[in-house]
Amino acid sequence: MLKLTQFVVLALAVCHFGQVLAIEGGEPAADGEFPYMVSVRDSRNNHICGGTIIGDIWILTSSICNTRSWGGYVRYGSNLLDDNGQLPVNDSLNIIKVNYSMYNEWASDLPPYTHDLNLIRLEEPIQFSETVQPVQLPVLDQEWPYNQTATILGWGKPHYWRSQVHLQKANVPLYTDEYCHDYEFENWKIPDVFVMKCGGVVNQTFHCFNDYGGPVIYDGIQYGILSYVYNSADAEYVCGQFPSIYSPVSYFREWIKEATGI
Ligand SMILES: *[C@@H]1O[C@H](CO)[C@@H](O)[C@H](O)[C@H]1NC(C)=O
Ligand SMILES: *[C@@H]1O[C@H](CO)[C@@H](O)[C@H](O)[C@H]1NC(C)=O
Ligand SMILES: *[C@@H]1O[C@H](CO)[C@@H](O)[C@H](O)[C@H]1NC(C)=O
Ligand SMILES: *[C@@H]1O[C@H](CO)[C@@H](O)[C@H](O)[C@H]1NC(C)=O
Repeated sequence: MLKLTQFVVLALAVCHFGQVLAIEGGEPAADGEFPYMVSVRDSRNNHICGGTIIGDIWILTSSICNTRSWGGYVRYGSNLLDDNGQLPVNDSLNIIKVNYSMYNEWASDLPPYTHDLNLIRLEEPIQFSETVQPVQLPVLDQEWPYNQTATILGWGKPHYWRSQVHLQKANVPLYTDEYCHDYEFENWKIPDVFVMKCGGVVNQTFHCFNDYGGPVIYDGIQYGILSYVYNSADAEYVCGQFPSIYSPVSYFREWIKEATGI
């Protein structure tokens, strides 16, 4: 009887947790639904960023993940962030070591954060399968899907520099350049260059910190990379008060091709 009570209490706790643990406004992704999604990890196998498979040894992510992923790993082919916290010693856990990661000078992570893209090269190729596949990229200068509803993915925990176990997906609106560049929160605006894009519903549905490098998918194509989320200086661990800021992949298409052949 005691055990049953404990079980019920646990179930209630999990249920309650289930409402809290999501990209804010999101829901868990189905197995194999996003076969290109990866978790970028540091050298201690901690999740630090999202990323996507673009080729068997190439991962697309954001510049903020560059130095932190050095000496790190990429986990692919699973919606779960870890299998009981095992270290990357077991191939069946789909973890591959990072060889190096790179960005070019106009795609750097230096302020004012106007151009952002990072490529990770793996030490070994990923074996593709039904549930492990590269994502489709836009062509050079393919127009951003303004005013459309896109899918965002990530393991970030709402409002925190933390992660959750199950990959989350959410649908969010993408805005016009005018809207993004005019948006002001506590006297802050996106730096005035028409490169970065934005999306998400402020205080409602948005990417958070540990989602950096994760994709914005529209019509099966990855148009954006989560570059950063701006938050109030007064609220150190709060995100979603400003639209999420995305780097447009098509802008970097030629450089990706030069660097990877893809
Ligand atoms: C690798 O991990 C899987 C899943 O946890 C387990 O079934 C398998 O026995 C492990 N293999 C080795 C060699 O440790
Ligand atoms: C790492 O990348 C370098 C440069 O492309 C390559 O020569 C080397 O073989 C790679 N190392 C591994 C372990 O993949
Ligand atoms: C997006 O919506 C705005 C406001 O309704 C409109 O002015 C603009 O032309 C639209 N842009 C595209 C590309 O549809
Ligand atoms: C979002 O929440 C913050 C903090 O509560 C608040 O200052 C801000 O006005 C809200 N923004 C919108 C658009 O609701």
